[in-house]
Amino acid sequence: MSSATNIGGLHKLSAHSMCYSIPGKILEIKDNIVTVDYFGERKKAKNEFLDLSIGDYIYAQAGFVIQRITANEASASLETWKELFFKLREIDLRLAKAPKNLYQIANNIRQKHLGNSCCVHGIIEFSNYCRNDCLYCGLRKSNSSLSRYRMSPDEIIAAVELSAKELGFKALVLQSGEDLYYDDDMLVGIIKGILKKNAVFLSLSIGEKDIVTYKKLYEAGARGLLLRFETSNPSLYSKMRPGFFLENRLELIKQLRKMGFLIMTGFLIGLPQQSEQDILKDIEQTHSLGADMFSFGPFIPHPQTPLENSVSPSLGLVLNTIAQARILNPEAKILVTTSLETLDKENGARLGLLSGGNSLMINLTPEKYRKLYEIYPNRAGIDLDLKKRINQVVELLHSLGRAPTDLGI
Ligand code: 5AD
Ligand code: SF4
Repeated sequence: MSSATNIGGLHKLSAHSMCYSIPGKILEIKDNIVTVDYFGERKKAKNEFLDLSIGDYIYAQAGFVIQRITANEASASLETWKELFFKLREIDLRLAKAPKNLYQIANNIRQKHLGNSCCVHGIIEFSNYCRNDCLYCGLRKSNSSLSRYRMSPDEIIAAVELSAKELGFKALVLQSGEDLYYDDDMLVGIIKGILKKNAVFLSLSIGEKDIVTYKKLYEAGARGLLLRFETSNPSLYSKMRPGFFLENRLELIKQLRKMGFLIMTGFLIGLPQQSEQDILKDIEQTHSLGADMFSFGPFIPHPQTPLENSVSPSLGLVLNTIAQARILNPEAKILVTTSLETLDKENGARLGLLSGGNSLMINLTPEKYRKLYEIYPNRAGIDLDLKKRINQVVELLHSLGRAPTDLGI
């Protein structure tokens, strides 16, 4: 758990010992809210599932307690983290000091309000079938040149098991196109099968489903929901998603939030005919939905879609949007998406994190399927071996002074 190597003057956790979460010690319990100490910083988390006492050590993720660990396990992990934690904080502070331009101002606001915490979710794309025909997306049903795959429940559970137990992930997203093959019972079985054996914060990104279905999935233990509204412009929405209406999408997101799901939502930047005014409204819409995490990224044209001749937005527009979103929402989690990384493979992720972003997702889809989840072409980060990819992300985070202490509700 705590093997560490010293690279470039920094203690760097190796991929096998990767902890995306630092253990916290419970200082206080009030109803189902626990106050946790992290090297002197106090954060709060919600406890729904465990019987906890003051003094216990826990892992929490996305504001939820997900696992209790023994004092011995905690001290091994804390020993690894202790020195690193303070070094990282110093680096982050230095990079956020004396802001001069829009990006730096946004980064400074992020630092002041959220410190150097960064959340790292793993994402497993379990089916690339989709019944819909969104104009912008490579998984659209009319794209007959894509080979389709579905992972079986056992394969999904095994992929989660590997991510949680071997790679150390504490927060995972299960994503697919809108695939009716997985009925309610199957989805409930998958969620329960996962949570029986793995202490993870589990999110779903499976598109529009009946509210009754979502209730079952919540009851089975899923707690996060990633569902973008794509654009806040109603006529653009219906153009891009023929047969669908923005109003219904927003209503569904609101109901899911009411149900108790932590909501990750957002939009596409650079859709054809989208104005800069639209993008500002998109930021506002994300805010007014009460998003726990902002998830928005550049539209990248896919050659097998009707939008093949469109162009991607500039890197500057995407970074401006992150910065504006941060300035307007100092406390939000803002995801730096793979699509931003794809737009600029060299610098996209780093610049996103330095313009107000504070969350990342790592693709953990089994290698044989990864290339087939082609929402857009040339997705960043999917060629590398998983452990190498994880190391690359950890190195990036460490070079920016960020630590995966994702907490606070
Ligand atoms: N470029 C970037 N993002 C895309 N998505 C779909 N197609 C594209 C594309 N061409 C995004 C949508 C969807 C998410 C799963 O992927 O916003 O919600
Ligand atoms: Fe299907 Fe989602 Fe792609 Fe639309 S964006 S075609 S719903 S996978």
